[in-house]
Amino acid sequence: MIRSEYLNRVSVPPSIPATDIAGDVLEGLSRTPKSLPPKLLYDARGSALFEQITCLPEYYPTRTEAAILMAHADEICARLGRNVSVGELGAGTATKTRILLRSLLRRQFSVNYFPLDVSDAALQLAKEEVERELRAVNVHPQVGDFEDLTFLELQPRPRLVLYIGSSIGNLEHDEAIALLQNVARHLSSGDQLLLGVDLVKDSAVMHAAYNDSAGITASFNRNLLVRINRELGGHFDPDAFCHVSFWNEAASRIELHLESRRPQSVRVDALDTTLRFHQGERIHTENSYKYTIGRMKDLLRRSGFEVEHTWTDSDCWFALSLGVII
Ligand code: AVJ
Repeated sequence: MIRSEYLNRVSVPPSIPATDIAGDVLEGLSRTPKSLPPKLLYDARGSALFEQITCLPEYYPTRTEAAILMAHADEICARLGRNVSVGELGAGTATKTRILLRSLLRRQFSVNYFPLDVSDAALQLAKEEVERELRAVNVHPQVGDFEDLTFLELQPRPRLVLYIGSSIGNLEHDEAIALLQNVARHLSSGDQLLLGVDLVKDSAVMHAAYNDSAGITASFNRNLLVRINRELGGHFDPDAFCHVSFWNEAASRIELHLESRRPQSVRVDALDTTLRFHQGERIHTENSYKYTIGRMKDLLRRSGFEVEHTWTDSDCWFALSLGVII
């Protein structure tokens, strides 16, 4: 994590103009109801805003997961294969991962660590900081998305794959299973997966985490429109949309939307189109699925893993589960 840290230290190139986001934006905003894929939230500014979110008093997931890792890292490592290599999906700057690597080095002389991320800048910082603090860790950064997981086969066996941070919460259930099945396909018998998910809890706690009083989550959400303005020549007034986020009990997810405050037409030059919004019309920008322990175990089993152990915090707000390929 700590994305703002690398934004301050590494010069981040301006987002690549108008290439692949055009198709996603046109497709999503032509639908009824309108929607945009959550991955578009994470340009350089969006990633920095997300990093600020992780430090908000209302945003419990990051610190809760870090606390579980700190309390149980030794126990987690004791359950791993002998001399594992470590891969990570969406590693970012690997701040939380260092808790685990530190503990792993008490059990084995060295670790080969393969962090995968779309952000090259984040990976460079991950490599620098991990290798500086933990000299016995060899970092092999993998720039890319989750479409191509062949890097997992580069990892010496036995392998541990980390998919922490509740990133899986962005995915629909069928997408989550497809992704974990794809992970499983690249692994061998005895290889393990450590999965971090956010759990269903008091809806007021979840609601506050996505409706913070400082308004950072609202800025993070509206940044989508700022990004469309910059990369696609959009003419959105971000303040003409309000941040709407609520707990959808039936679907077991927090939803993020941008709601038009008034009827409006917005020209997007690069799409050569004018979008129309009626008052109160929403753009669905993100889902954050919350699991029960049962559903998480079910997800792992249906993806080809046997669940070995699950760790939670004392409030049962977040869970880490270790699965193995049989
Ligand atoms: C990065 C997907 C784990 O769902 O909590 C935080 C994203 N969106 N606040 C989450 C997010 C608004 C976050 N994940």
